[in-house]
Amino acid sequence: MLSIQLQPFPELNTERLTLKQLHNDHSNDIYILRSDQYIMKYINIPLIQSIEEAESLIEKLNNQWRNKEGITWGISNKGEDKIIGTILFKHIDAVNHRAEVGYLLSAAYWRKGIIQEALTTVLQYGFNTLNLHSIEAIVNPENIASIGVLEKNNFIKEAHFKENFYSEGDFLDSAVYSLLKSNFK
Ligand SMILES: CC(C)(COP(=O)(O)OP(=O)(O)OC[C@H]1O[C@@H](n2cnc3c(N)ncnc32)[C@H](O)[C@@H]1OP(=O)(O)O)[C@@H](O)C(=O)NCCC(=O)NCCS
Repeated sequence: MLSIQLQPFPELNTERLTLKQLHNDHSNDIYILRSDQYIMKYINIPLIQSIEEAESLIEKLNNQWRNKEGITWGISNKGEDKIIGTILFKHIDAVNHRAEVGYLLSAAYWRKGIIQEALTTVLQYGFNTLNLHSIEAIVNPENIASIGVLEKNNFIKEAHFKENFYSEGDFLDSAVYSLLKSNFK
């Protein structure tokens, strides 16, 4: 079984970004991101409704990190504390050396290569520091932008589940993409 070591919180830097631990001071930024219907259109989980919910979410994400179940980084421009997006590993599966990656970004920053930059660093961390063997992403098949990100990064579509995801009265399809360490460039 893989020994997962996430302490102390691994702050990561890229050319333009800092990927950092979320704190209560970021609750307004997280509220803005996670209450935005446009950003959340294909994530299909309930929008958060208040700053208090954002605070609870940050606490939950930090508990997942403490319990080695996942890790969420807030994405900020270097030198700034404002969180413009998030990128995470969840469902860390130490037995199978696998985790799920997810990301979202404020629409004002789309198509500037921000997630590409963050994802490259997070995948490096996942494969080279955590020693994962594979990383998966679960997407709504209509999420062209996210599928574009995954394909650009060598993820391969492995499964398409029909109507397996219940969201607000509808059963949605989901697709599983994955990247093996050996295919990570
Ligand atoms: C998906 C998302 C994170 C992409 O972030 P981004 O910073 O705009 O992406 P990047 O600029 O780094 O793009 C990297 C590559 O992804 C692909 N891509 C990104 N947006 C795309 C789009 N709208 N259509 C097609 N391909 C797209 C392209 O291949 C792009 O490379 P290129 O610019 O050289 O062509 C962003 O659109 C987002 O936050 N969407 C809402 C949240 C979400 O759906 N998250 C994913 C849940 S599974």
